[in-house]
Amino acid sequence: MKLWKGRFQKEADPRTNDFNSSIAFDSRMYRQDIEGSIAHATMLGRQGIIGENESMKICVELGKIRDDLDAGVLAIDPDAEDIHTFVEQELTARLGDAGKRLHTGRSRNDQVALDIRLTLREDCAGLKAQLKELISVLCKEAKLYSDAVMPGYTHMQRAQPVTFGHHLMAYAEMLLRDVSRLDDAIRRMNYSPLGSGALAGTTYPLDREMTAKLLGFTAPAQNSLDAVADRDFCAEIVFAVSLCMAHLSRLCEELVLWCSWEFRFIELDDAYCTGSSIMPQKKNPDLAELIRGKSGRVFGDLIGLLTMMKGLPLAYNKDMQEDKEAVFDAVDTLKLCLTPLIPMLDTMKVRKDHMRAAAAGGFINATDCADYLVSVKGLPFRDAYKITGELVALCIEQKLTLETLPLQQYQAVCPDFDEGVYEAISLDKCVSDRKVLGGPAPENVRAQAKRVLELVEEMDKRTGDC
Ligand code: ARG
Repeated sequence: MKLWKGRFQKEADPRTNDFNSSIAFDSRMYRQDIEGSIAHATMLGRQGIIGENESMKICVELGKIRDDLDAGVLAIDPDAEDIHTFVEQELTARLGDAGKRLHTGRSRNDQVALDIRLTLREDCAGLKAQLKELISVLCKEAKLYSDAVMPGYTHMQRAQPVTFGHHLMAYAEMLLRDVSRLDDAIRRMNYSPLGSGALAGTTYPLDREMTAKLLGFTAPAQNSLDAVADRDFCAEIVFAVSLCMAHLSRLCEELVLWCSWEFRFIELDDAYCTGSSIMPQKKNPDLAELIRGKSGRVFGDLIGLLTMMKGLPLAYNKDMQEDKEAVFDAVDTLKLCLTPLIPMLDTMKVRKDHMRAAAAGGFINATDCADYLVSVKGLPFRDAYKITGELVALCIEQKLTLETLPLQQYQAVCPDFDEGVYEAISLDKCVSDRKVLGGPAPENVRAQAKRVLELVEEMDKRTGDC
């Protein structure tokens, strides 16, 4: 039965109900809806707006409804308009008049704004825990492969040598920023809309501080119109999730490349790959590809949300019911992607030999050759750069590398060269000498991984870190 039956002469067309209903996607908020209602009812009782006894009865029964839903002995009515209506109707069915008092001084507008915040607070805590796990795996692998020389690329061309550990730690840094972006969004979101009513507050003497406190919010939101019309937090969280998906997508693109037979830098565990229905030799990195692909739908969620909100007049408009599918899809998708990605990275085999061979094959140490002329022979960098360019051209012509080019040929281009050049351009030295802060020297990478691991542990310990 509709809540507004008194005002209407006719029943709604079933097509109206189907179209208007949000129960299919907001029932996941039943626990948060009940939690919010318990706080509201507690406050109504303490303020004397409803009887203390009724308040208590409501809270106890709401707890039972939650337990029944948890246990699966009570099913959510798919014909209810939304989760708020369902819970209230169930409560009234069980308690009669007392149940009918719950909605005093409240609207579904502040209720839904509350429920999404509570739900997202939990979802984001789960995402953060997964992200921290992923960061820890990256650090662990980075420590293990801190001296595994591999080519670093720019423009997908071999550029300068780095280590696999250094490369992985780049992703750890991105993911740390993702965690901090989620933290920021949660901090800004953590204000309670409860008590803002439909849009204009209420004449009942509600204690909004009390409900905010009971529900773990920093404070009540300060403007009733803003409190029910605001979905900034949805956009912020979906943006944070989108950027994180972009990072995962980049990582997965590299995994796909690295496990190709052209690279063979890594081997993914069979448990995280699939085969082909026709080509018997195939082992495909489907999961990495799917994660890369799923970034698209999350970006779509963000654009959908922003577009849905952009022209809305204050305060609540039904358009805003569209927020939930977007925001839940985004957080669910990230969760879904992180779940297999973490063990996939944890179990991958790293082919140090292939990485090194790829680093040794080209002219990845050309900068180091120029740097040798600068630091050992005192040449200006621009001259050293030009000389090295000529040497590279010479090597290409003679099908040699800087390592195999004879000293006489070096000296023919620049008489300053001596035997020391071979040591200067050795891959291990090229990497270990890059000790500058943030550089790939193995000791740097190990220190960075240690610092990040400590940071992650620290975050876990911090209280109130949701
Ligand atoms: N299902 C609605 C939503 O998700 C709840 C709020 C409805 N409020 C209203 N005045 N119709 O936005």
